[in-house]
Amino acid sequence: MAEPVATTRDVRLHGRVAIITGAARGLGKVMAEGLARAGARVVFADVDGAALAAAIAAIEGQPGCEGVAGIRCDITVKADCERLVVQTVEKFGALHILVNNAGRGPRLTRRSGNRSSSPMSTARS
Ligand SMILES: NC(=O)c1ccc[n+]([C@@H]2O[C@H](COP(=O)([O-])OP(=O)(O)OC[C@H]3O[C@@H](n4cnc5c(N)ncnc54)[C@H](O)[C@@H]3O)[C@@H](O)[C@H]2O)c1
Repeated sequence: MAEPVATTRDVRLHGRVAIITGAARGLGKVMAEGLARAGARVVFADVDGAALAAAIAAIEGQPGCEGVAGIRCDITVKADCERLVVQTVEKFGALHILVNNAGRGPRLTRRSGNRSSSPMSTARS
């Protein structure tokens, strides 16, 4: 019989530092919140500063969350991506996990049909 799928409660990421791009809403926000609840220190990165501030306010101080931060970053701008990594390491001392999520979900692609390309995509594993 197959092993049961691990739930967030089973995952322990204490001492790990993660960046999630596109974390102000949608899938990125859910993934960033999940990593934070699993004990990682998490940088929420997004181009939308207002939505980013709201996402951070919603998760900050929740039980089990060791540390979260919001950094405004446009992943199509190389200097923003470099600053994101430098500021993450300055704040949390390391970087272990990168989730390259930012992009245009169905919410935007249905309207424009466009997709963005990113300097962060060179770091995809
Ligand atoms: N939702 C789906 O069904 C689906 C299906 C296939 C792929 N995806 C991919 O998953 C990712 C997330 O999808 P979603 O539905 O949560 O999208 P969403 O539109 O709800 O959220 C995307 C987030 O990315 C941010 N973002 C967009 N461009 C950015 C940029 N240049 N720099 C930094 N942040 C930027 C937006 O501000 C937003 O907060 C996207 O890359 C999308 O292409 C989603």
